Amino acid sequence: MALDPETFGILLDTVERFVTERLVPLEAQVAEEDQVPAEIIEEMKELGLFSLSIPEEYGGLGLSMSEEIEVAIRLGGTTPAFRSVFGTNVGIGSQGIVMDGTDAQKEHYLPKLATGEMIASFALTEPEAGSDAGSLKTSAKKDGDHYVLNGTKRFITNAPSADIFTLMARTDPDTPGAKGISAFIVERKSDGLTIGTPDKKMGQQGAKTADVIMEDVRVPAENIIGGVAGVGFKTAMKVLDRGRLHISGVSVGIAERLFRECVTYAAERKQFGKAIADFQLIQAMLADSKAESYAARCMVVDAAKKKDAGENVTLEAACAKMFATEMVGRVADRAVQIFGGAGYISEYPIERLYRDVRLFRIYEGTTQIQQLVIARELMKDA
Ligand code: CAA
Repeated sequence: MALDPETFGILLDTVERFVTERLVPLEAQVAEEDQVPAEIIEEMKELGLFSLSIPEEYGGLGLSMSEEIEVAIRLGGTTPAFRSVFGTNVGIGSQGIVMDGTDAQKEHYLPKLATGEMIASFALTEPEAGSDAGSLKTSAKKDGDHYVLNGTKRFITNAPSADIFTLMARTDPDTPGAKGISAFIVERKSDGLTIGTPDKKMGQQGAKTADVIMEDVRVPAENIIGGVAGVGFKTAMKVLDRGRLHISGVSVGIAERLFRECVTYAAERKQFGKAIADFQLIQAMLADSKAESYAARCMVVDAAKKKDAGENVTLEAACAKMFATEMVGRVADRAVQIFGGAGYISEYPIERLYRDVRLFRIYEGTTQIQQLVIARELMKDA
């Protein structure tokens, strides 16, 4: 634990206030304009939100996984588009460098990522390589003290604002699958690198994803993460183990937000002469949502504790991601049901959150990939 309990308590209170007083009132505007206002991004920088997971020696808050989960749960109090602004600096964009980077890479990049001066993105997915990440085709051919990269990365969160990419490419064309892959730090300003038009998405407006297209992009060999070729797939998987816990925490936070909205609405909305909360069929939906979000919270808190204790949590992270993201989908669906017609129109936040949470079951590994990971981990003991 990097922060003393009192300071950490202040951080949590500050994040909670920022979410309820600054971000929630702007949700509809962000969805409408598909843009998080620049002044909000500045406030996020001042609050240290870009630096949550970056070690203190590089200017970050250096939160433990357990602490980061508590913050993630509070960030779930609003549309996940806000979290996405700094989410890749805290998670999948920076963590490859934090976990496996050389000292020089850490010293050069992490302080700038911690302040938000630089944005990092994670580029694994390709048009033909989604769940089967090990089949990626982006090539990195050695040419003197550089690699020359060619290929396209798809659905890359924060690509339009990124300054650097933690980018997986195949350095060994003769080795199929995971072993031929290396992780690079690729700078946005590199010649030959272009960003596609931002994708039009079902939800999470304000969070931008786009293609990253590379045509003969020259990357210095020293930008291979950790300086070792052929181990980039493992770096990506370790980063995702951690990211999956963070997404689980956010899912719990959004479930709790939905649940609070439902309780308030059910207490106020009257039908058949009384509040709908008095009807047992409504109570059953509220109870199911509460019990499931509580179960997901316990799961992610436990998995984070194990990670902080140095245990391998590949299995637990997959369990948490699968359960928490499916759970928030069910909670959102019940919320629409409890709100009835009001749950289907954009005047209320429910239909927007319903669309927003749908992505959680897909990115950073689909539910089906989590099932596969869980089963594989179990079979290792057989
Ligand atoms: N930690 C460390 N090492 C790991 C690991 C982990 N969690 N998982 C696998 N590895 C290692 C394995 O031990 C193996 O090493 P050895 O060969 O030395 O034994 C190597 O990596 C290859 O592993 P597998 O044989 O298990 O690889 P696979 O090709 O069968 O694939 C997979 C495994 C689990 C299906 C993996 O491809 C996967 O997780 N797919 C989903 C990809 C994913 O989550 N994509 C999301 C993209 S990011 C995103 O969504 C964010 C955004 O910006 C939108």
